[in-house]
Amino acid sequence: MGFPVTRLRRLRVSQEMRRLVRETELNVGDLIYPVFVTEGEGVTVPVAAMPGINRFSVDTLLRELKGVVEAGIPGIIVFGVPAEKDDYASGAWASEGVVQQAVRTIKEFFPGLLVITDVCLCAYTSHGHCGLVENDRVLNDQTLEILARTAVSHARAGADVVAPSDMMDGRVKAIREALDAAGYQDTAIMAYSAKYASAFYGPFREAADSRPQFGDRRSYQMDPANAAEALLEVALDIEEGADIVMVKPALAYLDVIYRVKERFNRPVAAYNVSGEYSLVKAAAAQGWVDERAVVLEMLTAMKRAGADIILTYFAKDVAGWLNDKRNENIEGKVEP
Ligand code: PBG
Repeated sequence: MGFPVTRLRRLRVSQEMRRLVRETELNVGDLIYPVFVTEGEGVTVPVAAMPGINRFSVDTLLRELKGVVEAGIPGIIVFGVPAEKDDYASGAWASEGVVQQAVRTIKEFFPGLLVITDVCLCAYTSHGHCGLVENDRVLNDQTLEILARTAVSHARAGADVVAPSDMMDGRVKAIREALDAAGYQDTAIMAYSAKYASAFYGPFREAADSRPQFGDRRSYQMDPANAAEALLEVALDIEEGADIVMVKPALAYLDVIYRVKERFNRPVAAYNVSGEYSLVKAAAAQGWVDERAVVLEMLTAMKRAGADIILTYFAKDVAGWLNDKRNENIEGKVEP
C-alpha cells in the first residue's frame, strides 16, 4: 500500500512519537569499559592519543572504578601493561603479574563488577607479537599452551570472563580445556573471533605499549577485505567453546556484526576500538562534530547491526548521558 494511504512521516511527527516507535535502544547494561593497569603506586599516566584515558596502577584504578560502578556500567575489560617483557611472555601468566594482582584487588573491592581479562601475549613479549616467535614467524601451536596458562591464572585471580584476542587457531579449545581441568567450568570465554588486522588499533598500542617490533599482525589477524571468513572464525570459536563472540573493530565492520548475529544464536560483542574513539575525540576538540550526538549515533548503529554488548572507551560518558534519560535521548533534550 503506497502513498497517499501510507505516509511514513506520520510516525516521525514528534519526539514522543519517534520514541514510541524507536527500534533500537542503547542501554548502560550493554557497555563494557576497557581499562589499562600498570605496576607501581599512585600512577595515572594519560594516554596522549586517547584524551580522557589513562594507565592506572591498581590503587588509582580503584578510584576510577568507583565511578564506573556508580554509573551502572556492568563490567570492565582489563589490559595489563607490565614493567618487564621477555621473549616468552612470562609476565602474562605470573601469579603476581600485573593483571592477576589487579583482578584480585578489584574483586575484593567491587565483587559485583564483571571482570573480563584480555588474554594475549603482545604486551608481555619483547617482540610485541601475540604469540611465541621463531625465525621471525609467529608460532601457533606452541603459543596455545601459554595462552591457556594465562587464562587459568586470570580465572584463579577471580576473572569472570577471559577474552582471548591473539587470533591463534585453536586457542578457544585450548583455553576451555585448561579452565575445565583447573576447575573453572563457570569462567566464560568471550572470544575475539573476527578480529581484523586494523589500522584503528594505533592509539591502543601506545596505551598498552604493545606495538610489534618487526613486521605486522597480518599473519594472524584477519584481512579487512574478508567477511565470509569471519563466519568461519566465529563458527570454529563457538564449536571450541566460546560463550560470547566478538567482532572488532566495530564501526567499519557493521556488516560483519550483522552477519554474525543473523547466523549464530550467541551473544555478539562489538569492540568500539581506540582509533574510533580518538577520531571522534580529535574532531570534537576542534568543534567539528557534536561528540555526544556522534557517539550515541555510532553506538546505536552497532546495536542496530546486531551487537548485544559494546566495549567502548566512551562507556562512562554514555552512561552519564543515558542515565539522564528522563530528559535526554538520542535526539538530545526532551522538553518536559
Ligand atoms: C591485543 C589487543 C589489541 C586490542 C585489543 N587487544 C591490539 C592489537 O591487536 O594490536 C585493540 C583495542 C583497541 O584498539 O582499542 N592483541
